[in-house]
Amino acid sequence: MNPFSRLFCRGYQICFRLALPLLPYRQPELLTAVTDIPSLLQREHIGRVLLITDAPLRALGLTQELEKALSQAGIACAVYDGVVPNPTVDNVEQCRALYLESGAQAMIAFGGGSPMDCAKAAGARIARPQKAVQAMGGLLKVLRKTPLLIAVPTTAGTGSETTLAAVITDPATHYKYPINDFALIPDAAVLDYHVTLGLPKQITATTGMDALTHAVEAYIGRSTTKLTRAMAEEAVTLIAKYLLRAYRDGQDAEARTQMLQAAYDAGIAFTRSYVGYVHGVAHSLGGQYGVPHGLANAVILPYFLEEYGPSCHKALARLARKAGIAEETSADEPAARAFIAWVWEMNRAMEIPSCTPEIRAADIPALAAHAAKESNPLYPVPKLMDARELETMYYKLMPKEDTP
Ligand SMILES: NC(=O)c1ccc[n+]([C@@H]2O[C@H](COP(=O)([O-])OP(=O)(O)OC[C@H]3O[C@@H](n4cnc5c(N)ncnc54)[C@H](O)[C@@H]3O)[C@@H](O)[C@H]2O)c1
Ligand SMILES: [Fe+2]
Repeated sequence: MNPFSRLFCRGYQICFRLALPLLPYRQPELLTAVTDIPSLLQREHIGRVLLITDAPLRALGLTQELEKALSQAGIACAVYDGVVPNPTVDNVEQCRALYLESGAQAMIAFGGGSPMDCAKAAGARIARPQKAVQAMGGLLKVLRKTPLLIAVPTTAGTGSETTLAAVITDPATHYKYPINDFALIPDAAVLDYHVTLGLPKQITATTGMDALTHAVEAYIGRSTTKLTRAMAEEAVTLIAKYLLRAYRDGQDAEARTQMLQAAYDAGIAFTRSYVGYVHGVAHSLGGQYGVPHGLANAVILPYFLEEYGPSCHKALARLARKAGIAEETSADEPAARAFIAWVWEMNRAMEIPSCTPEIRAADIPALAAHAAKESNPLYPVPKLMDARELETMYYKLMPKEDTP
C-alpha cells in the first residue's frame, strides 16, 4: 500500500479508536431458554411477532417449542422461513413485506447468522422505507429505531446476536457486504444450548472457527480495549477447550453451552474492535461462489496470520499464552508460531480443507477489489494491504495445482 493510503487508513482508524468510548454500544438482554421469550414480549406489550428462520431448521422441528410457547401465551406468530445461507437482498425484502403484512410488532430471529442478519436488515428497511438495502452497506446508514429484535443463535457462531452488523449478498452483482449500525444490535439474545445440540459436525466445526476468527482478528487489530481483549481471550480459551469436544460429540451439553458463550464473547470483541482481511476475503468468496462463511474463514485465517508475520506476533503470543496454547514462559515469536500451528491443527482435526477450490484466477482482481473496499480504511489490521497485495492471498488459497 502506498504511503498516502497508509496514512489515510491509520488516521481513520485512530479517529474511530478515540471515538470508541463515546459510541452508543449496548449489549442485548440475555435469556437462557427459548421458553422465556413470551414473557419478555408480554412485558413489552407485544401480541404479534414475525419469526424469521430457514426452511431446514423448521423442517427439523427446532422452532416447534418456541412456536408452541408463543401460542400458549396468546402471541400471534407469522413465520418467514425463506432465508438462505449468505442471505440475499430478496430475503430481506420478503421478510420486510411479511412483517408489514402480518401486523407484527417485533421480530424473533431463530437460526445461524443468516436468519439473524436477514432480520436485522429487514428491520433497517422497516425503519428506513425509502432507502434500498444496497444503500445501507457500510457504516451508520440506518440511524433510526428498528423493530424490537430477539435473536436465538442456533450455531456458535457468528455472534450476530450481539453485533451491530448484518451481512447481506446482492445476487445480481455477487457482492456481499456488511451493514453496520448501532440500531442493529439485537434487544435480546437467547443462549439456549438445546437448539444447537443437533448442529451437524461440519457446521459445528466451521461456525466454531468463525467465532475463533472474530476473536483473533479483533485481538490482533490496533483498536482493542480492555473489554475486547478480555472477551477475545475468554472466547479463544473456551474454543481451545470445547470446540473439538462439541465437534466429536454434538450432544455434549457443556461443550455446546460454552461454545455459545465463546461465540457471544467473540461477538462483543469484534463488534467494538472490528475484524480484518480474513473477513473481507471471506465475504468476497461468499458473495461470488456461495462459500459458507465459517468455512471460508477457517481456511483463510492461518494464511493471513502467516502473512502478517512479526506485525501480529506480540498480540498473537499473548493470546496463545492466555488461552493455554503456548507455555506461559514462551517468547513472542515461538508462542505466535505455536498459535498458528494450532489453527492449522484444528482445521486438520475437523477435516476442514486447506484451500478454496472455487477460486478462479480470472475472478481474483474483482474479488480482491471487494475485499479491499470492505476492509480499508475501516479494519485496523496489523499490516495494511491494498487490492493488489490482497490478490496474492487469493492465489495462496487456490489448490496448488491450479496456481498459475
Ligand atoms: N452479523 C454478524 O455480526 C456476522 C458475523 C459473522 C458472520 N455473519 C454472517 O452469518 C452468515 C453465516 O451464519 P452461520 O455460519 O451461522 O450459518 P447459517 O445461518 O448460514 O446456517 C448454515 C446452515 O446450518 C443450518 N443450521 C443452523 N443451525 C442449525 C442447527 N442447530 N441444527 C442443524 N442445522 C443448523 C442452517 O439450516 C443452514 O443450512 C453469513 O452470511 C455470514 O456472513 C454475520
Ligand atoms: Fe464471521
